[in-house]
Amino acid sequence: MLIDKKLQKSFINVTSRAALAAYFLVGKKDKIGADKAAVDAMRNELNKIEMNGKIVIGEGELDEAPMLHIGENIGTKNGPKLDIAVDPLEGTNFVANNLPGALSVIAVANKSNLFGAPETYMSKISANCSEPNVVDLDFSVKKNIYNLAEFKNQKPKNLTACILDRPRHKEIINELKRLEVKLKLISDGDVSGALMIVDKKYSVDLFLGIGGGPEGVLAAAALDAYDCHFQGRLLFNTDKEKDRAKKMGISDLKKKYELNEIISGDSIFCATGITTGDLVSGIKVNDNKFTSETLITHKSSGLKKIIKNEQII
Ligand code: FBP
Repeated sequence: MLIDKKLQKSFINVTSRAALAAYFLVGKKDKIGADKAAVDAMRNELNKIEMNGKIVIGEGELDEAPMLHIGENIGTKNGPKLDIAVDPLEGTNFVANNLPGALSVIAVANKSNLFGAPETYMSKISANCSEPNVVDLDFSVKKNIYNLAEFKNQKPKNLTACILDRPRHKEIINELKRLEVKLKLISDGDVSGALMIVDKKYSVDLFLGIGGGPEGVLAAAALDAYDCHFQGRLLFNTDKEKDRAKKMGISDLKKKYELNEIISGDSIFCATGITTGDLVSGIKVNDNKFTSETLITHKSSGLKKIIKNEQII
């Protein structure tokens, strides 16, 4: 079933309002307050939409989060049955410290078509090629770089790889340096990191490394509309995390998820900038109005665009 085009505007509004709410706490060193403001605003807007929505990725389980918790029914309860993944504030450090790159993000698919990833880490890889066996989560860094260089008719030293700057990535980063690949090290915000491969203007060829599982699902939703490559494998550090995943219906804890196992069918993805970053500009407030920039994709209508909006606060 196709998702109604009318909903494009509604979901842009959802992430724009959440972004605005977080914007008022930019630079206030208040990660929790900013997240709460974005969550409240997002939930408020979602509940106005004519749909039978269900949160599959949200702020955690009911015992952890009163709002936008996994399983929460959202919308007017009248309308299409939709699965919804949200990250009202992606990049809490960015907002708290007034740094570039904070986003408000949502992904929407038809019921049962969106993977509800638990709150664990995920090993991820994305690149702008839909051909199989060019890059793969199970290939070595060297093989991925050599294959991608060949595919793009480039030398490895002309490729750029984006990865979260974390001690856990020391070996990957060292290998990329040995291969003379240009690094784009990001301090946070790997939804944006994974998406920078979609367009030459971002000058990123490969995204890889370990980040949040929910962030992986959100990025995959947009990458599907761009017909790009994405794979993810959940990683579990504790028995509690493993038990929770099993409770959520995940039996094979080592499974490598292909893009079409994370999201299938039609989808809408929206990411609105809170602070200006690589993908989109941040919120700008002028008297009683605000301007927002949203990257939206809608798979069935082929929409992949940055939309600028001005609204009354
Ligand atoms: P928050 O907005 O929840 O702080 O997440 C930011 C983020 O950088 C994500 O983009 C990324 O997936 C994750 O944190 C990485 O986790 P960690 O900081 O533990 O390496």
